Amino acid sequence: MKGIILAGGSGTRLSPSTDGINKHLLAVYDKPMIYYPISILMLGGIKDIMIISTKDDQERFKALLGDGSALGISLTYEHQIEPNGIPEALIIGEKFIGKDDVTLILGDNIFYGQGFTNLFRRAIKNHEHATIFGYRVKDPKRFGVVEFDQNQKVLSLEEKPEEPKSDFAVTGLYIYDHHAAKIARKLTFSARGELEITDVNREYLKKGQLDVQLLGRGFAWMDAGTHESLFEASEFIKNIQDRQGFKLACLEEIAFYLRYISKEALYKKGKSMEKNDYGKYLMEIANRKHNQQYWESIDRDPVLGLVENE
Ligand code: TTP
Repeated sequence: MKGIILAGGSGTRLSPSTDGINKHLLAVYDKPMIYYPISILMLGGIKDIMIISTKDDQERFKALLGDGSALGISLTYEHQIEPNGIPEALIIGEKFIGKDDVTLILGDNIFYGQGFTNLFRRAIKNHEHATIFGYRVKDPKRFGVVEFDQNQKVLSLEEKPEEPKSDFAVTGLYIYDHHAAKIARKLTFSARGELEITDVNREYLKKGQLDVQLLGRGFAWMDAGTHESLFEASEFIKNIQDRQGFKLACLEEIAFYLRYISKEALYKKGKSMEKNDYGKYLMEIANRKHNQQYWESIDRDPVLGLVENE
């Protein structure tokens, strides 16, 4: 399974904050926005990840994240010349995907909730052709809306419908087989001048190959694309972190628990930032006595174990 993070776009809704920098490098509370989708892919057991950004900022992403080896993963970089739409990620990443499956995630999407790792890993394991993730929203008219049957087979997909057939929006996380790039290549631009991911999903739907995984009420799904939602997402992350004393989307912590990096490497990284909370947190985890329990809970989960070994 390959992973692609689409972190291009124009970010006009966050202007002027994004006039000089790519949106996904802005902070969501205490870490860059791009950390959140990377954490999701890592938790899914995906180690080979391509980050597609804007050309001007590609070097900044590299400076921030390097080749991924410090996290025990592989990161490669590409850029999108124009924000031509989400499916372009599949075209840009076509060679990288090769004959593998691919998980595509939008760079400004944040997922959080107990059991997300298991749900996502199970979705990866059970996935056949295309899997999307549905999330109940109050105002489905603003989103792509998915209608489905009891077996979570998709019945219909509609973009911003006047009369939504369900309350479930399609989130920015998609799992595809390697045919997705071919499908994306055949698309034509929509009325708003973009290639539409809904059209890719519709192709799978036509063949009866589109499944949906539902994220229940215990999950939070946010995008951080407007000033309001960026602020809210930061507040949300801060609240959870302050209450629990755990950080969300702390990539070094995840890499450590997945045993991609050693305790020593974790401590060293923390030490390099020891003046701030993030660094202190890493050092604290490296020194924690109960890490073994966490590891064992990962090992006990048959799905987690399986995906990691694939
Ligand atoms: P959008 O929020 O639709 O667009 P945007 O980020 O360009 O922002 P704005 O509407 O304020 O101008 O994009 C959703 C996510 O997908 C976001 O993380 C950017 C990414 N994206 C691309 O990288 N390339 C694209 O061509 C599109 C359409 C989106």
